[in-house]
Amino acid sequence: MAKAKETENLMETLVTLCKRRGIIFQSSEIYSGINGFYDYGPLGVEMRRNIKNAWWQDFVHRRDDIVGLDSTIIHHPTTWKASGHIDNFTDPLVDCKVSKQRYRADQLFFAPIVIDGATAGYVSAIESEDTEQALQSAAEKFKRRKGIQGSLEAVTPRDMTEATAEEIALIPSPATGEPGSLTPPRSFNMMFQTHVGALRDESSVAYLRPETAQGIFINYKNIVDTGRVKLPFGIAQIGKAFRNEINPRNFIFRSREFEQMEIEYFISPEADWQKIHREWIDQSRRWFTGIGIDDALLSEYEHPREKLSHYSKGTIDIMFKFPFGVQELQGIAARGDYDLTQHQEVSGKSMEYFDEASRKRFIPHVIEPSMGVDRILLAILCAAYREEEVEGEKRVYLRLSPRIAPVKVAVLPLVKNKPELVEMARKLYGNLQRRHAVFYDESGAVGRRYRRQDEIGTPWCATVDFDSLESGTFTVRDRDTMEQSRMNETDFMAMIDGNLT
Ligand code: GAP
Repeated sequence: MAKAKETENLMETLVTLCKRRGIIFQSSEIYSGINGFYDYGPLGVEMRRNIKNAWWQDFVHRRDDIVGLDSTIIHHPTTWKASGHIDNFTDPLVDCKVSKQRYRADQLFFAPIVIDGATAGYVSAIESEDTEQALQSAAEKFKRRKGIQGSLEAVTPRDMTEATAEEIALIPSPATGEPGSLTPPRSFNMMFQTHVGALRDESSVAYLRPETAQGIFINYKNIVDTGRVKLPFGIAQIGKAFRNEINPRNFIFRSREFEQMEIEYFISPEADWQKIHREWIDQSRRWFTGIGIDDALLSEYEHPREKLSHYSKGTIDIMFKFPFGVQELQGIAARGDYDLTQHQEVSGKSMEYFDEASRKRFIPHVIEPSMGVDRILLAILCAAYREEEVEGEKRVYLRLSPRIAPVKVAVLPLVKNKPELVEMARKLYGNLQRRHAVFYDESGAVGRRYRRQDEIGTPWCATVDFDSLESGTFTVRDRDTMEQSRMNETDFMAMIDGNLT
C-alpha cells in the first residue's frame, strides 16, 4: 500500500497538481494574481460542493435538532459593534518602514544572540515549521560574519508582541536584514469595509462579514419564532467570509476570501456545557475521518485562558498535520450567552427563550463548531496524496473518499473504433450521468486513462470491453487496489450508492 507523501515539498506538488488538473487557480492570474484569493476550477468546484453537501447532509438533513439558514454577507453595521468585531477583531501588525512589508507580530519571531553571556545582536524569522532552527542558524551566521569568538547560547524565540521598545529598535527586519525599520505592533482590524448606497461617508460604512456566525445570531429570534425548535437546537450556515489577513499564506489555508460552515448549537444555561462541548469535538473528529482524513493526522489544542477570543469561555481546536506544521482545522468554542446578550442590549429586542418544561425565561448559551471549507479541502488533499511505483513507473493517486471525489466514475470503452462497444459505453455513461458526476474518456491507451483518473481521485473506472458485448458486464477497476472485477450495471449502481452515504 502506498504511503502518504511526507516530504516538505508536498505543498509544492499539490499546488502544481491543483493548477494542472483544474482544481484550484490563483485568482486574477492574468493580472499577476491577487494575494490571498483563489478560484476553483471544474474539479475544485465539485470537491467543494461535495464537502458542503456531505456536511449539510450529516449535520442538517440527518439530524432532528439542527435547521439551516442562509443570511446575507452584509449585515446592518451595528451587528459588528454589538458582536465586538469593530473593537476586537484585530491582529497585531508590524510594519517595516524601509521595505513596506507588513507582518503579523505573533508570527514574527526574534531572539537575542547571546555570546559568552553578553547580547551581541538580534535575529528574526517569520514563523515556519521550525522557527527555532531558523533563528539558531541566523545567529550562527551572524557570529561567523562578524568574526566574534566565544560560545553562542541556544536561542530562545519570542514573538514581536512580547518585544520591548528597546528590543524593537535592535531587531532586524526579515525583509532587509537590518535593524531600525520595524514599528511597534499596532491593532489592525481585519474586516473589509465597503459603502452601502450612493453616499460615501461614515454613515454608509458597512462590512463584509468576517464570520457567518453573526448572521445566525441576528436571525435567532426569527427561527425560534417560526421554526418550532426546542432547546437544545442548532442553526447551521454555509457561506463566504472575508478577512483582510495581514499575511495570507500556505495556499488556501489562510486566504482573504473563504467559505465557512458553522453551527450555533443553543443550550440551556443550566446544561453541562463542558459535556456538550466534548460531544461536539468527538463528533467532529468522527466526521473528518468519515470524509477521508485519517484520525492519526488530527489532534486537539486547547486555547489558554489568556488567549481566548473576546467571546469565548473555552475553545478547543481540532488540528491537522499539514506539511507546513500542525495547524487549526476547526474551532469549537463555547461562546456562553455573549452574542445573544450583546444583540439584546444593543438592539433592545429580547433574545430570551421561554422554556415550557421549567416555565423559565433565559438567554440560551451556545457551542459553536466552526470550520473553513477551503482549509478542509486542503487537509483532504494533503491526506489523500499518494505516490507509488508500479511496474517501474510512478503512479500518483488521490485516495479521496468517494463522497468527496470530484468524479465518481470514469467510463472507458476499451477501443474507440468498434461502434457497438462505444455505443454500450455511452449508454452506461448516460445512465450514470443522471445520478452522479461521471466522466467519459476514449482517448489513449487504457493504462494512461486509468492514471489520469487516479491523479484526480476517481474511485472507479468502468471499462467496456469485447466481453461486455456478450455478457452485458464490464470491468470495474478500484483506484486504491487497482484490482478489477466484472459487474453488471445494477450491481455497480448499488455499489456506488453504498459508498456515497
Ligand atoms: N465564528 C468563529 C470563527 O470564525 P475562527 O477560528 O476565526 O472562528 C473558524 O474561524 C474556521 O474558519 C477556522 O477553523 C478555519 O477553518 C476557517 N478560517 C478562518 N480564517 C480563515 C482564513 N483566513 N482562510 C481560510 N480559512 C479560515
